[in-house]
Amino acid sequence: MKAIVYNEYGNADVLRYADVDTPSIGPEDVLVRVHASSINFADHTVMLRGFPMVARLATGIRRPRIGILGRDIAGTVAAIGAQVTELAVGDRVLGEVNQRGFAEYAAARAAHLGRIPDGVTFEQAATLPVAGTTALQALRLGGAGAGSTVLVNGASGGVGTFTVQLAKALGAHVTGVCSTRNADLVRSIGADEIVDYTRDDVTKGPARFDVIVDLAGGYSLGGMRRLLKPDGVFVASSGTGGRVLGSIPRLAAIAATAPFHRQRKVRVAVTKRSVPDLEHLAGLVAAGTLAPVIERTYPLSETADAIRHLETTHAQGKIVLTT
Ligand SMILES: NC(=O)c1ccc[n+]([C@@H]2O[C@H](COP(=O)([O-])OP(=O)(O)OC[C@H]3O[C@@H](n4cnc5c(N)ncnc54)[C@H](OP(=O)(O)O)[C@@H]3O)[C@@H](O)[C@H]2O)c1
Repeated sequence: MKAIVYNEYGNADVLRYADVDTPSIGPEDVLVRVHASSINFADHTVMLRGFPMVARLATGIRRPRIGILGRDIAGTVAAIGAQVTELAVGDRVLGEVNQRGFAEYAAARAAHLGRIPDGVTFEQAATLPVAGTTALQALRLGGAGAGSTVLVNGASGGVGTFTVQLAKALGAHVTGVCSTRNADLVRSIGADEIVDYTRDDVTKGPARFDVIVDLAGGYSLGGMRRLLKPDGVFVASSGTGGRVLGSIPRLAAIAATAPFHRQRKVRVAVTKRSVPDLEHLAGLVAAGTLAPVIERTYPLSETADAIRHLETTHAQGKIVLTT
């Protein structure tokens, strides 16, 4: 089968579209014929570039331990392991795998996959596992609900476009922070207010929020906490930072101080794989409540170009790969 392989850390130039063995499956696994996958921050920054470097303790010190990129998959069950009862060949499924998703076939634990409902395309489903789940769980951690005022910093990206829509679906009043070129997009998916970070500093504004979901960093924690109402919650999910430690110092500081803040609470969002959340998200797409923003779709063979596009021009929503 074809897959996107690499054997050294670097930019998109180190990626190759090559022939590899189709994965074998264990008794609790299924083999998925992947029809679509989508690119996440972790794919192009952590796994491909090897940043932050501390993450190489897990991903491989000198070179990537797993030589195929990709976490989000959506496709059809092609084979099942001997102990799998919940899925059958031909079922349409979506999920997050531990690498090896940018390929024609991927092996996955049956228990890690959700079903794609009728009316949802493979391309739409492929956007949901990492980005959709992160948005849903971040809003839940912040306690967003009907009537909440929610600020989304990084509203135009993969996670942000889901966060804006999910917060609106909960009945929140949403303010999105994005750049000038993305203001219309963020407004079109439901944001009530826009702050253009190239012109205005949101931390200097008068508005106060019940929930802040931070997907971009860029502002001090103190500045962000000042934007909260006394009962408000700041949820940090930003992976940006220095080359060696990345966002770890910032997120560690937030986690360490969290118990001491009784007001204007701070939390770190760590996305957990959840089939109920996946199927909830897919159900919202089927119902028309959630519309994944897909800026562009590339064939799997052009993954390197897709990543170059993402790195030179921030994506608007998600970039999808199809096989
Ligand atoms: N906690 C977890 O488990 C988890 C899971 C998934 C993702 N994440 C993190 O979530 C973050 C976002 O991921 P993503 O996939 O949505 O990335 P993405 O698609 O690249 O989006 C990033 C967004 O940040 C915006 N941005 C850049 N600089 C900004 C600034 N100074 N102020 C406000 N917005 C700014 C970009 O907007 P413009 O294009 O308008 O500049 C873009 O919309 C990453 O740091 C990632 O590590 C965490």
